[in-house]
Amino acid sequence: MAKWYLVYLAQSHPGFRKAELESVADLLHIEASFESHDIDHPFMPVLLEDDEQATKLAQRSMFIRGIYELWGEGSDPASLHADVKSKSSHYWPDYMTCSFKFDLVGYQGKRNRKDQVKLFESFAYLAFEGPIKMKEPDEIFTILEEYHVVGREPAATPDRMWLGRQVALGQREFKLLENYHLKHRSYTSTTSFEAELSLITCNIAQAAPGKLLYDPFTGTGSFLVAAAYFGALCFGSDIDVRVLRGKDGKSIKTNFKQYGNGYLLGDVLTMDFTHDAFRKSLQMDTIVCDPPYGIREGVKVCGAKNEQRFVGKESVLVDGQLAHTRRDYIQPKKPYELDALLDDLLQFASERLPIGGRLCFWMPTENDAQQESRIPQHHNLELRYNLVQSFDKWARRLLCYVKRDGDYVGTTLTKDQRTVKNDFRVRYFQGFNKQPST
Ligand SMILES: C[S@@+](CC[C@H](N)C(=O)[O-])C[C@H]1O[C@@H](n2cnc3c(N)ncnc32)[C@H](O)[C@@H]1O
Repeated sequence: MAKWYLVYLAQSHPGFRKAELESVADLLHIEASFESHDIDHPFMPVLLEDDEQATKLAQRSMFIRGIYELWGEGSDPASLHADVKSKSSHYWPDYMTCSFKFDLVGYQGKRNRKDQVKLFESFAYLAFEGPIKMKEPDEIFTILEEYHVVGREPAATPDRMWLGRQVALGQREFKLLENYHLKHRSYTSTTSFEAELSLITCNIAQAAPGKLLYDPFTGTGSFLVAAAYFGALCFGSDIDVRVLRGKDGKSIKTNFKQYGNGYLLGDVLTMDFTHDAFRKSLQMDTIVCDPPYGIREGVKVCGAKNEQRFVGKESVLVDGQLAHTRRDYIQPKKPYELDALLDDLLQFASERLPIGGRLCFWMPTENDAQQESRIPQHHNLELRYNLVQSFDKWARRLLCYVKRDGDYVGTTLTKDQRTVKNDFRVRYFQGFNKQPST
């Protein structure tokens, strides 16, 4: 029978938490409701089948700091004790003789050592007979407290308290985010995507062992590295051969080696995404990317801006070989609209993803009321999540679409139907001061 667990969540990017938890639970076939999730609070009760489910969730979610079998809650020690006595006495006999210790987790506030010990001792009625072990005890009983802040100081007493048996700690408690931080990564550039949000994106995209993940705008491979952490087989492409080759002996390959999962790097191809070289029947289980915004790197596709200049050039020979068939031939490139590129991306995903497969990509927008009208839509793709990371004058959105079957009739919103243009580059350099173009 399902029972209550308390999930302790990190407060970074709280707007992304519910989507990530739902995606992870769905991937792991865990039926759980996260309806009680509240972005302003780090503690969330959840009904789960057992410790195994709780552990799986904690090991996979980037937001979970810890999961605890919930023994009781209250607004002060007296109400906490009353709740523990009325709700959890059936758990106690299982822990009579094991070694144990008490721990305290405080959010936005803490107790001094003397208060902590007094609080721990107030649970003496549990009457555990096993030895107290500070290092590697069999069980850790944790009191979790949430304080509010008055001015800049924590309130004197917590608003809520819980007692839980620690079931599992999340990966972020074991330095995962530090190890994957860009400052420790062998190969990065100005386009590299931060580690925490890359990992969160790949969780929402449901990257997993046995799945083929593709990033069409690979750059330095931030999403591939994150997807490989979750065991996906990674493929990528980029129009810029230099970024894929790397420099000074450092490349996407050395990044994979650094994390010990080189075997998960399928390959990276130099390719214009809008003229892809894949066979038509090739399916990708998951597509994750950060398309070019046009700020640091322009949106470019193969082709000539002035086609007249190239008329008749197909027959130019270099050392007796047609120039455009040589390996060292550099194709002309022309600018392209971000809006058109996003439509191409959705069309590609609708053709290449299996039913249920996900497309997750980041799209820059500005902080105005017209953001929704810029979101591209495709009738075969359900827009499952539209998550915002706000900066001062602009924002970027993580859009997650799920491929649906033929019976699904979703919305279509291509660039010609979208009421507001995604001319992010122009607007960025104007400082977002003028009216958006329609
Ligand atoms: C925002 S960056 C992605 C950065 C990447 N996530 C990383 O970790 O470095 C966009 C990338 O798209 C590439 N790009 C631009 N136009 C492209 C096209 N038509 N086809 C494929 N790649 C393209 C750029 O060369 C650039 O590396």
